Amino acid sequence: MNAAETATKLATRVIKGHAAGIAEAARCLVEGGLVAFPTETVYGLGTDARNGAAIARPYAAKGRPAFNPLIAHVAVATTARQLGRFDTAAERLAAAFWPGPLTLVLPKLERCPVADLATAGLDSIAVRVPAHPAAHAILRDFGGPVVAPSANRFGHVSPTMAAHVLADLGGRIDLIIDGGATPVGLESTIVACLGFDAPALLRPGGVPREAIERVLGAPLANSPSRDEDVSRAPGMLASHYAPRTPLRLDANRVAPGEALLAFGPALAQGAPAAVKVLNLSARGDPIEAAANLFSHLRVLDASGAGTIAVMPIPLAGLGEAINDRLRRGAS
Ligand code: TXA
Ligand code: MG
Repeated sequence: MNAAETATKLATRVIKGHAAGIAEAARCLVEGGLVAFPTETVYGLGTDARNGAAIARPYAAKGRPAFNPLIAHVAVATTARQLGRFDTAAERLAAAFWPGPLTLVLPKLERCPVADLATAGLDSIAVRVPAHPAAHAILRDFGGPVVAPSANRFGHVSPTMAAHVLADLGGRIDLIIDGGATPVGLESTIVACLGFDAPALLRPGGVPREAIERVLGAPLANSPSRDEDVSRAPGMLASHYAPRTPLRLDANRVAPGEALLAFGPALAQGAPAAVKVLNLSARGDPIEAAANLFSHLRVLDASGAGTIAVMPIPLAGLGEAINDRLRRGAS
């Protein structure tokens, strides 16, 4: 039995993200509670980042086997400046993309109030200012940093709807703020600005690489191999994004008994025999595809198909992050 199984059964409440829900969420955070709330990327599972005693709870609720460092979410960039040291590149990226789906990994300041367990004892800290109005209102009401991993069970795909959170974490957390489907649908892009070398892309996500490189006026350094260099990109194991059903990538046909995750114009071959077909974006739009990715994967995962065949998706724009998540899901 792991820590998750020993967690006490809670009565998880679900509130629509109106004003009362926001105040309730902030109060629950003050009391050391676990609150799932929508961000523009995916639903996060929030805890007071300064409350050392509460920080272990999201790990137990998710069934995360190890203490991976968490992202500190703040309402405004001014608060982020009390957590990490911004170099010129970090300042430019914050000005261009905050609030929004970008996380910056910065040297952790001496006076940073975020509990050491939340940053897994590293001397760096991941910070983000979410753009979603419910996330913003909760963070503003609460008034401090909130650490929030994606609100899914360890190894499941990230939740883009409150129903996904309830399915994964019902009975394990205190509160879910239902703000509808998350608009971006993919986790934030993570860029390390640690001062000693060029900014590095640690995780492709909701802000495309091209947009970041345009602001920096230079290419991002290559991300270190995620499964080997644990010190710089911890918690990014390939298996983190896996549905239970095996994925078959770059499929240009679908076999009987398979489900199909399509992209672009319908596949002529085999589609009628498929267990279920969902299209990420019939018009081939990577932004629409990103928003649909995790919810379509959940539906196809539950379809009873033996395999999910996935059509090829171009790498441009959000395609890089979509392909990243699919590759991890397939391994
Ligand atoms: O869009 C998102 O980023 C969502 C929403 C809820 O904000 N959050 C999210 O959190 O995806 P999580 O915990 O599922 O993924 C955070 C990633 C992990 O892979 C973790 O290892 C990495 O960020 N990370 C956190 N702090 C880090 C640090 N100091 N250095 C390198 N990687 C770090
Ligand atoms: Mg996650």
